[in-house]
Amino acid sequence: MDDVSRAYDQWAPSYDSDRNATRDLDAFALRSSGLSLRDANVVEFGCGTGKNSEWIAEHARSLTAMDFSPAMLRRARERVRGDHVRFVQHDVRTTWPVESATVDVVVGNLVLEHVEQLRPVFAEAARVLRVGGALYVAELHPYKQWRGSQAHFTDGASGEVVHVPAFVHAVSDYITDALAVGFTLTRICELTEGGAEPDAPPRLLTLVFQRTGVVAAYGAAG
Ligand SMILES: C[S@@+](CC[C@H](N)C(=O)[O-])C[C@H]1O[C@@H](n2cnc3c(N)ncnc32)[C@H](O)[C@@H]1O
Repeated sequence: MDDVSRAYDQWAPSYDSDRNATRDLDAFALRSSGLSLRDANVVEFGCGTGKNSEWIAEHARSLTAMDFSPAMLRRARERVRGDHVRFVQHDVRTTWPVESATVDVVVGNLVLEHVEQLRPVFAEAARVLRVGGALYVAELHPYKQWRGSQAHFTDGASGEVVHVPAFVHAVSDYITDALAVGFTLTRICELTEGGAEPDAPPRLLTLVFQRTGVVAAYGAAG
């Protein structure tokens, strides 16, 4: 089993109840993003315990939510029910179990810091989206990562602090790799939580891309 998947299996029992400013800001950011889910077929990659799946399922026509951690996924399945919701255990770095050009919105929150290569994930998002569809990505801001922030938790049984393996992607990495597979950037936000020090770096980076059907000439080979 992958180290990241193993770590999230261990984190699953306390993921929703731990103090976690990034998780909470992410939930707020998605719900206030203006992303239109009405009548939308949505794919969520790295759905975790279903914190955002719950909100998506309330608004969308259908939701396919993927995660490779069985324990995180079990919690999501308990939390979100409905004939229009499908949870799939899947590694999002490999071909998604979704038909091409059938999806209106792809959402991924706090996942890509655990994925070394962004482009294969963006390429799958581009493949499953119809032209004009939206990709919403939210991540721990690289400025925070460069200052040492990394997803971590205290294991309830052993008391051990576990840092989940992570990679830093610059803002330009997200944009370059998304443009290279057929997206255009429509929105970028950098958010700081309420009560943060005035000179604190942004905690969260959110990006919205639109599927254009045109692959940028530069960066396509990289
Ligand atoms: C920080 S949690 C975020 C969960 C949820 N999106 C949220 O915002 O609360 C990251 C999730 O991404 C999942 N994940 C990380 N890498 C993955 C991969 N390659 N394939 C599938 N899931 C992955 C983990 O198992 C974990 O559930």
